[in-house]
Amino acid sequence: MQEFEGRTAVVTGAASGIGNAIARRLAAAGMSIVLADIESGPLGAAAAEIAASGVPALAVVTDVSDAGSVDALAAAARDAFGPVHVLVNNAGVGNRGRAWELSVDDWRWVHGVCFWGVVHGIASFVPGMIASSEEGHIVNTSSMMGLGTAAEGGPYQSAKHAVTALTETLAFDLAEVAPQIKATLLCPGYVDTRIADSARNRPGAPGPLPAANIAAAQPGSAVPVPPEGIAELAFDAIVRERFYALADWDIWRPLVASRFDAILDADSPAPVRLP
Ligand SMILES: NC(=O)c1ccc[n+]([C@@H]2O[C@H](COP(=O)([O-])OP(=O)(O)OC[C@H]3O[C@@H](n4cnc5c(N)ncnc54)[C@H](O)[C@@H]3O)[C@@H](O)[C@H]2O)c1
Repeated sequence: MQEFEGRTAVVTGAASGIGNAIARRLAAAGMSIVLADIESGPLGAAAAEIAASGVPALAVVTDVSDAGSVDALAAAARDAFGPVHVLVNNAGVGNRGRAWELSVDDWRWVHGVCFWGVVHGIASFVPGMIASSEEGHIVNTSSMMGLGTAAEGGPYQSAKHAVTALTETLAFDLAEVAPQIKATLLCPGYVDTRIADSARNRPGAPGPLPAANIAAAQPGSAVPVPPEGIAELAFDAIVRERFYALADWDIWRPLVASRFDAILDADSPAPVRLP
């Protein structure tokens, strides 16, 4: 997609971190922005900041793990701005722990946001995007942990691997049915955001294990990149219609290559532990 001015984008997880940076980047390109997030205070502030720059912005408090809530988001976006052109399914949360020690609720929470949030976004928005016959682009935020694996990452990594597979199949389906709509799999590595404090937005009682520092997951470097860099990567992928948007690939490639090599050789995966 090359034209952004006057078109509409919906970004989930837009109150913070990567989603917020993507919303600001798309606003800078002239798009009307619908910001969705479960955390209402920062969401309102984020929308006000974009609106102050002269770009139409709408904040919709949304729980992406709830299908009805995402349906309501789609209705609000359509009512405010008409057809949606860019959908960014980005909201995510993380935890960390041994697969057998995490509670079923720990698994459900992470899968509810990271995996079902993307499924709900596709179900609520893509039929309308196809019906409009207009150009479109869908960005799903996975992770380097949606391509590789490491110890103590069961819920997060299995959810992100699912996002990787469902985005690939989404791209195949769109190419067959609605080739005017493209897809991008966004895989950040280690980004300076609030994801380590994910439990702030966990409904109900938190599980027995603390929120994990997912952002501590970078081999070879302790320096997180700013979310604006990931937003630029996502924007570039939309402009160039590139499917894989891989952050800091020189750093992460060996980890991913090692896993793929083990699969191709029918070998056991080399154990990985991230800091
Ligand atoms: N930070 C990293 O190092 C990193 C690395 C790889 C992938 N990611 C992915 O990037 C995406 C954005 O995360 P971030 O790092 O910007 O973290 P963040 O915590 O700064 O932002 C995530 C946003 O999602 C929102 N959210 C949480 N639960 C929600 C729900 N049920 N419904 C709607 N919104 C909800 C939060 O309120 C928050 O505003 C996530 O999918 C995350 O898994 C982050």
